[in-house]
Amino acid sequence: MREWIVAGNWKMHNTINESIALAKAIKQGLPVVKNGEIIIAPTFTALFSVGEAISGSKILLAAQNMYYEDKGAFTGEISPGMLKDVGCTYVIIGHSERRKYFHEQDNDVNLKVKKALMAGLKPIMCVGETDEERVKGVTQSVVGRQVKEGLNGVEKIDNIVIAYEPIWAIGTGKVATPEQAQEVHFFIRNILKNLYGGSTVDDIRILYGGSVTKDNIGDLIAMKDINGALVGGASLKADAFLGIIRQISGKK
Ligand code: 13P
Repeated sequence: MREWIVAGNWKMHNTINESIALAKAIKQGLPVVKNGEIIIAPTFTALFSVGEAISGSKILLAAQNMYYEDKGAFTGEISPGMLKDVGCTYVIIGHSERRKYFHEQDNDVNLKVKKALMAGLKPIMCVGETDEERVKGVTQSVVGRQVKEGLNGVEKIDNIVIAYEPIWAIGTGKVATPEQAQEVHFFIRNILKNLYGGSTVDDIRILYGGSVTKDNIGDLIAMKDINGALVGGASLKADAFLGIIRQISGKK
């Protein structure tokens, strides 16, 4: 059974108190969730408090990044064990903002994915092309490379979620059409089938991210290979985020 996911990536927003308030408002407004998972990814400093605020609910905690070593002299970094310790189930890895501003390469993403799995965290591995790459017609080669290199040496895919986030759609209000997104999701699922075999891959969730709102998610989620959303801006307001959850839980 392939469950849907709605994940909110809060990026570098919200103080601890603002994060708690948002988490509580989401918890309060949550509809009965069947066949799905709700995930929120606050900043590192708010993880512990948000974890407390959502305890006893169906909401799961995610981090936005991690390092691939267990411990040591890595000033400013956070280990997978620390994320488990604070109550994370998921960790976002290889977000395009990490790749762009912090120069993360496919190889870093790969090391992080493997390390997260080893520590018992579920990676949400992000992939996606730039505007320029789409115009040049190289979307599939870029996304294909990111998927294959990110998963290099990963033996089991069961605990991995892939997020397709076209960079030109992130924070721009320019959402991919359902057909554009479905085409890439189908392409990604086929790569996974070739790597891991058909039946395992049927249950893998591939999320769409990029300017998702409650008004556009209905058409996206109707697509066969779109299994949920990774939401930025619209996850920062409880009403907007809950609206997306309601749309998806009503359709999947
Ligand atoms: P927006 O929903 O703000 O476009 O952000 C998407 C995203 O980057 C989620 O990880």
